[in-house]
Amino acid sequence: MAELLTRGGSAPLILGFETSCDETGVGIVRGEQLLANEIASSVDQHARFGGVVPEVASRAHLEAMVPTVQRALKQAGVTLHDIDALSVTGGPGLAGALLVGAAAAKAYALAIGKPLYAVNHLAAHVAVDIVEHGPLPEPTMALLVSGGHSSILQVDDITSSITPLGATIDDAAGEAFDKVARLLQLGFPGGPAIDRLATQGDSAAIGFPRGLTGPGDAPLDFSFSGLKTAVARWVEAKQRAGEPIPVADVAASFQEAVVDVLTMKTIKACTERGVEHLQIGGGVAANSRLRAMAQERCDRAGITLRVPRAGLCTDNGAMVAALGAQLVERGLAPSDLAFSATSYLPVDEIRL
Ligand code: KG4
Ligand code: ZN
Repeated sequence: MAELLTRGGSAPLILGFETSCDETGVGIVRGEQLLANEIASSVDQHARFGGVVPEVASRAHLEAMVPTVQRALKQAGVTLHDIDALSVTGGPGLAGALLVGAAAAKAYALAIGKPLYAVNHLAAHVAVDIVEHGPLPEPTMALLVSGGHSSILQVDDITSSITPLGATIDDAAGEAFDKVARLLQLGFPGGPAIDRLATQGDSAAIGFPRGLTGPGDAPLDFSFSGLKTAVARWVEAKQRAGEPIPVADVAASFQEAVVDVLTMKTIKACTERGVEHLQIGGGVAANSRLRAMAQERCDRAGITLRVPRAGLCTDNGAMVAALGAQLVERGLAPSDLAFSATSYLPVDEIRL
């Protein structure tokens, strides 16, 4: 692997593929430098179903893959033969969607004769911040909040040591945003719509419950399904009374409840363990209120906060390339091309 590091005197050039859900992402990084991040999304094809339809997503990945790779190479100003190593999301995610990315990455790796690293999607959401803000301090606490996951992770080494400290016991944070948006008829995906609408509402208008914050509750786990039900009951009561629904106030108050619990528990994890750096990643990290509240609370607790730009928080190929680059730089072995992508992959299994 050492020759990958030294060839041309510059860091290795990595091509990364992401297809775990509905975005076909292809990213190119050189070491810690982001060169391209091209995305083709099938989100519009799922909107009328109110959620991602796995077979539709797989088909869309198949159609988008080659053109997205070509756009990324053009954006980076490199050719396929300049690539030193490849990386691909090996899991977790939708089985069929992952399969398309894994098959494509294997085919490109074989065609150019370069090593392929199958990586964990969740670890990649954390690693992407390296191309935004430089090397991750060790240890860093990570709050990973997406459509499928909500976890507090202690990252002692992004290539080899991630320890889950807490996770949702029911809905993921993004899933709660999507379900509440559906209830409020705001379309899919719901997070961005609630984020926008909440700016016009009063976040203190309705006191929605903060899940798992009682004295006997698991201190670092999350629960959002009770909150979702509370919003549904509140809206139903208004409807029964024949009163108008103050949609912006509901959106703002719901968002406040989610963000309050996410930041409170994550900062608690940092202070209890003496971790001075916090990184937030995953689609929900694009949320403007989460970013603002996390910054306020980190400032108060003396914690340095890192959150990548919104386009690097939602699923993308750059995050996969960024993690691949770290594995290559550590001289770790690539994956056997016989690997199978897997829909279930615990976060501490950083590579396959
Ligand atoms: O990380 P991601 O792109 O895909 C998964 O791995 O799940 O996250 C998608 C999730 C969706 O649930 C979406 O509603 C949510 O991230 N999301 C947001 C925002 N932008 C995306 N949630 C709250 N506020 C946002 N601005
Ligand atoms: Zn994701």
